[in-house]
Amino acid sequence: MRFQNWVLVFLLLMALTIAVLYVSDKAPRVEIDRDALPSADVLTRRGEYLVTIAGCGYCHTDPEQPGPYLAGGRKLPTPWGDFYTPNITPDKASGIGNWRLEDFIRAMRFGVSPQGTHYFPAFPYTAFTGMTDEDLAAIFAYLRSVPAVEHYEQLNDTAWFVWREGLRFWKKLYFRPGVLMPDPLKNARWNRGRYLAEAVGHCEECHTRRNHVGALSRSVRYSGSRQGVLGEPVPNISSSRRHGIGKWTEEELSAFFRTGRRPDGSRVKGWMDEVIKGSLSHLTDEDNQALTEYIKSIPEVD
Ligand code: HEC
Ligand code: HEC
Repeated sequence: MRFQNWVLVFLLLMALTIAVLYVSDKAPRVEIDRDALPSADVLTRRGEYLVTIAGCGYCHTDPEQPGPYLAGGRKLPTPWGDFYTPNITPDKASGIGNWRLEDFIRAMRFGVSPQGTHYFPAFPYTAFTGMTDEDLAAIFAYLRSVPAVEHYEQLNDTAWFVWREGLRFWKKLYFRPGVLMPDPLKNARWNRGRYLAEAVGHCEECHTRRNHVGALSRSVRYSGSRQGVLGEPVPNISSSRRHGIGKWTEEELSAFFRTGRRPDGSRVKGWMDEVIKGSLSHLTDEDNQALTEYIKSIPEVD
């Protein structure tokens, strides 16, 4: 075959692959049995706790002004450009006041908007996908209860190759949606700790290095990153005694989650300071113990 024909065959195959991806890319259906959910009060209270632990507040509130709670506008400076968080208060025009519970669960579990567009993983739905329907319904109930604020965020200012349409391909390669199932070989406390770390607290989103297209490098889980996705170096929190926190006792780690003080007496700075103040210091004693047990069990990565 002549060279031009090879090029033609290649282009046709590319076009076919793209067409197949588009056709197979249906927005997933979400169905919720509302009668099986706890009462609205119970849900709202649980939702408030989960919103605190998941840090929706520190990402979706602008610290500069400071902006109204959950009304968005915080800048997330990443190597792929600056992302601005949207308004998630119940305002109908600028927030999510028109969303149904199913729309919300689809956004959190599959990273798809009610219009069917894909979200950037700067929104850690890659972790939140692991939350149960009931916990997501609780978060939605709480979000419904906060004051509606009209506020429009700035447009994202991303690198030229960061393109919302391209997320279809990214998600096919790197995103596995689904509730995080308990490991039957482990005890209930460890499983609760894993759920808190991986589905709710999304520790890996900062503490695991990313590849050049922003996907987590799962072979070096929790081993930190010199650059850090938000521009700050992030330490290794695996049980490596040399590079990680293998030398910390359970009591020291548990106290760190409450106070932000390391065993040597120094305080954390930057994003982790916000994570401690806004989220982890509010864990119940039981959840603090569970998170501690799980984080201490992470295999060492040097
Ligand atoms: C690390 C920061 C961060 C955290 C933590 C975070 N979000 Fe977001 N969220 C974002 C960004 C960035 C977007 C926009 C993504 C995009 O432009 O594609 C977003 C988008 C959303 C959207 C879609 C809104 C819309 O108008 O389409 C919802 C809903 C949402 N987040 C809810 C939550 C909830 C609930 C939590 C806590 C459980 C949470 N987020 C935690 C960064 C964050
Ligand atoms: C938004 C990014 C971000 C998230 C999310 C995050 N961390 Fe961190 N973490 C950091 C940064 C940055 C530091 C370093 C702080 C400093 O330099 O003082 C840090 C420090 C730490 C340390 C201290 C380690 C040391 O050697 O000093 C521990 C322990 C830790 N994080 C645990 C966690 C756990 C557990 C979670 C999830 C529940 C979590 N982090 C979520 C960014 C994050």
